[in-house]
Amino acid sequence: MDTSPIATPSLESAVIISPNVPLVSIAPLRLGVLASGNGSNLEAIAQSILHHQLPAQIQVLVYNNPNAFAAARADRLSIPKVLLNHRDFATREALDTAIVATLHQHQVEWVIMAGWMRIVTPVLINAFPNQILNIHPSLLPSFPGIRAVEQALAAGVKIAGCTVHRVITAVDSGSIIIQAAVPVLPNDVPETLSQRIQVQEHIIFPRAIALVAAEATKHSPSSQAHC
Ligand code: GRF
Repeated sequence: MDTSPIATPSLESAVIISPNVPLVSIAPLRLGVLASGNGSNLEAIAQSILHHQLPAQIQVLVYNNPNAFAAARADRLSIPKVLLNHRDFATREALDTAIVATLHQHQVEWVIMAGWMRIVTPVLINAFPNQILNIHPSLLPSFPGIRAVEQALAAGVKIAGCTVHRVITAVDSGSIIIQAAVPVLPNDVPETLSQRIQVQEHIIFPRAIALVAAEATKHSPSSQAHC
């Protein structure tokens, strides 16, 4: 009788729930990234591009917080950046109008919300219909809104994770593109769980961008003309 121990998956391992990214050749995507803080997702997307894993170009970083470290990353990565400080605008709509103008000036086609800590309005959403993606640190539809990791720990869930989804007017509610599940460990605190979730964010966000762009190309009239 075989008495060797049964192999069990490591508790540290994560599971990514994603359709395969089709291997089609597409023109480089023109991305505009919105970020408010550290910018590690901006960095992950830029590194995917540099390593030829994502056929894209970041046309511009828009940031709203003058102290956002994302701005320093943009300088290092030679990405043009524009500060639009929300405090300089009377309404959310006025800020979004300026964002749309900046994105159009830089010929952006896909808007990537990578830690954008502002609620967006129909002004932005209608300017880029179906072409805005967000990353959220929970397995949506669980724990939308702020402090998602804290919410997950308080609820006592055993599996947390992150979600890339399309942006619609309702916060954290658009259709889900990719999720990654991360086990919650017995001694987790928000910082430790957030760190492990972010490792997965950096994997799934570039993948999700490639996936939606490949799907959009597949359904575009010009690609159908070649079938
Ligand atoms: C990420 O955890 C993301 O899920 C949330 O904001 C955080 C941004 O992190 N929306 P970073 O600025 O990309 O490091």
